[in-house]
Amino acid sequence: MERINLLVLSDNLDLRIEVKNLVNDEVFAISGYSEFTPEGRTKIINKFPEVVLCAVRGEVSESVFEFVQDLLTAVRGTIVILVNDSISVELVNKAAQYGIRKVLPIDGIDGADFSESILTVYRLEQQRILDTNEGKKVRCKALGFFGGKGGTGKTTVAIGVAAQLAKAGKRVMLLDLDLQFGDVTMALDIERKNSIVDLVQDRGGITIENINGFAVEHSTGISVLCAPQSSELAEFVTVKHIEKIIDIMRPYYEYIIIDLPASFNDTTVTALENCEEIYLVYNNEMLSLNNAKVCYCILDQLHQREKIRFILNKYEKGLVKPGDFEDMFQTKLFSIIPADYAAATASINKGVAVTASGLKSAIAKGIADAANKIIENHTGIVPIETTAKKKKLLSFRK
Ligand SMILES: Nc1ncnc2c1ncn2[C@@H]1O[C@H](COP(=O)(O)OP(=O)(O)OP(=O)(O)O)[C@@H](O)[C@H]1O
Ligand SMILES: [Mg+2]
Repeated sequence: MERINLLVLSDNLDLRIEVKNLVNDEVFAISGYSEFTPEGRTKIINKFPEVVLCAVRGEVSESVFEFVQDLLTAVRGTIVILVNDSISVELVNKAAQYGIRKVLPIDGIDGADFSESILTVYRLEQQRILDTNEGKKVRCKALGFFGGKGGTGKTTVAIGVAAQLAKAGKRVMLLDLDLQFGDVTMALDIERKNSIVDLVQDRGGITIENINGFAVEHSTGISVLCAPQSSELAEFVTVKHIEKIIDIMRPYYEYIIIDLPASFNDTTVTALENCEEIYLVYNNEMLSLNNAKVCYCILDQLHQREKIRFILNKYEKGLVKPGDFEDMFQTKLFSIIPADYAAATASINKGVAVTASGLKSAIAKGIADAANKIIENHTGIVPIETTAKKKKLLSFRK
C-alpha cells in the first residue's frame, strides 16, 4: 500500500502526541515532528512530506502563518492543514489566505473523522495536481547532463551531482541514457545484471515496480538504471520508452539525473525535452567554446534554450576564460569545476562518485557546490555541508 507521509508541526510536545494519536488510519505514515524554527523548516523541506499538520492551541500568531507561507513556497506540493482548538470563520479565512488547505479541530473529534478529513483534502489536492499536470513539474526535477562534445565530464559531473543530492537526503534516480556507450556502471563499479533494455522488453511493461526491479540500489543512496550491456542493443529503446520511463519515475523521485551522449539523436532529444533543466558541460578551450555555440543554437531551435545552464568543467587558466562563455551566451556560468586529474582518475579507478566520500578534492568541492546550488535554486535552502567555498570559484572569473 502506498503510504501518505505526514509530519506534525508544533512547538508543544503534548499537542504533537495528541494530534499523532488522532491520526489512526494506517494509510498515513507519521514521518516525524518539527517545530517553528529554521531547523524545523529545513527538516520539513528535506523530508518533503505529503501532509503537514500544523498544530496550535489558542490564538494562532502571525509568525505561525508566516512560517507556513514561507514553507509552502519552499516545498511546493506539500499540503498544510491547521489543527486548532478555537476555530472561527476569521481563522478559516485567514488560514486560506496563507495557503492552508483546511482547519481541523483538536477536541471533540474522533480519530476516524480526523483521518478521513485529512484524506479528503489529500485526495482533492491529488486530483487538482493531476488536472493541472502540476505535479510533474513541482515534485520532481529531471536534469539532463549534456554537451555536443565527448569527454568534457558529463558523466563525472552527473554522477557527482547525483551522489551529492542523495547525501542531502533527496530521492535520486540516475538514468544512463548514453545508450550506446554509457559508462555509469563502470564509473560506479556496478555489476550490471539488468539494463534499460531489459526493462523495455519485459512482459510486465514499464511500471514503477519494474523500474525499481531493474534499477540498481547503489551504496551512495542513488538508484541507477543502467545503459544497455552492448551498443547494438541501444536501438531497442525508443523515444516512447524514454518518455514513459521518465513520466512513471516522476512521482517517486525528487531528482532524475540523466547522463546523455555527446550527440543529438531521437532519444537524446526526447530526454532533453522531458527535462526541466539542461546542464551543458564544457571545458575552457576553443573547440569546446565553438561546440557550445552550435549546441546552444540547436537547443534554441528545439525551444529548449530557457532550460540551459552552463557548467565549465576541468577548468584551468588558459586562453579561453569563463567570461568568454558568459559574453558569448549573455548568461552567467552556473558553475565552474576545476581540473583535478588526480582526484578524477582516482575516483574512476575506485569506482566511486567524486563527491561520495569527503569533499576534499577540488573537483569534489566544485561538483558538490553545483549540486547544492541546484537544491538552493529549487528549495531556497542552502544545504549545510557547503557554505565555505564560493570565493575560490569566483576568483577564477576574469
Ligand atoms: N574536473 C575534472 N578534472 C579532471 N578530469 C576530469 C574532470 N572531470 C572529468 N574528468 C575526466 O575526464 C574524462 C572524461 O570524463 P567523462 O567520462 O565524465 O566525460 P563525458 O563527457 O561523459 O564523456 P563522453 O562524451 O564520452 O560520454 C574522465 O577520465 C574523467 O575522469
Ligand atoms: Mg559520458
